Amino acid sequence: MTLAQFGQYPAARFAIAHISDTHLLASGALQFGAIDTEPHLRRALELLGDLEEPPQAIVVSGDVADRGEVDAYRVAKQIVETAATRLGAHVFWAIGNHDDRRAYSSVLFGEESEAPQDRVHELDGLRIISLDTTLPGHHHGELEPGQRAWLKDVLSTTARHGTVLVMHHPPLPMALDRVSHVIELDGQAALADVLRGSDVRAILSGHLHYPIYSTFAGIPVFTASATCSTMELAGAGRSYGVRDSGQAIAMLHLFDAGAGGMPEAPVTHTVLPLAQTPLVVAHRFAEFAQLEEMTHAQRRELLSRHRDREASDDGRVHAWLDDAAGGLGASGKPA
Ligand SMILES: [Fe+2]
Ligand SMILES: [Fe+2]
Repeated sequence: MTLAQFGQYPAARFAIAHISDTHLLASGALQFGAIDTEPHLRRALELLGDLEEPPQAIVVSGDVADRGEVDAYRVAKQIVETAATRLGAHVFWAIGNHDDRRAYSSVLFGEESEAPQDRVHELDGLRIISLDTTLPGHHHGELEPGQRAWLKDVLSTTARHGTVLVMHHPPLPMALDRVSHVIELDGQAALADVLRGSDVRAILSGHLHYPIYSTFAGIPVFTASATCSTMELAGAGRSYGVRDSGQAIAMLHLFDAGAGGMPEAPVTHTVLPLAQTPLVVAHRFAEFAQLEEMTHAQRRELLSRHRDREASDDGRVHAWLDDAAGGLGASGKPA
């Protein structure tokens, strides 16, 4: 189904789900003995099924398994790939500091290896690179000189729609979180030299368990929240706090150059919280779908013009839509 364009921007060419830090454990064990991470991942994938347009790909940016257990990867693979098949989406994995290279590579890729887990994928002209930023046995990250050389070689040719780089450790400063500086990615300036001027359009990271955005060598960096739990940053003097709330995933959208009448190719990263709090307003879908049939002026009249705010009540949204329906012919088409 081709959706009507409501404003200046056409639909994105690529819609990619960004999931991070699932931290699954074998045998139903709980993270920190308290957090059941598997239902949070299932909820994340359920959200993707509720989007108006499903993602073309699911990227998982590391820390798939909390303790690197084979059975945890089996569960992750089964849950994510089942959802991806249902959505018609590809799956691209990246490795994190909690992961175990041997278990990760054998279960997810069928090739047991302790080598850095660097891979290049292609999605309809978009290049997706998984870069292994881990240093086995440690939580901070680093790249071997050979990995930088490999990346430079891969990026020496451009992809038709550019490149998305997935790397668990985010290349950025953590302004509210000095403790995480201890487990940051080392050698960021050397990596920036490789990426500057390349066709990389976005860097997707995780690791921190809270969302933070920056630019790195002029490239947007999007660090996703975790699906497992959330780091508390305003902890009243505690240096390290974890809460079983605030989990989220995100959708990366890549637009073509010229979208919105500008030469740049926009990139957005939209957060989708997992929390299921009470729904206080809901458009009925059949009514919402009328927007597709309206002219731009009719949509402006319905949704942009101020209404009588004093008369606001629970029925307000539906009342607006009923007003709009008055402007539609008996067939439901604009009169
Ligand atoms: Fe993590
Ligand atoms: Fe991590």
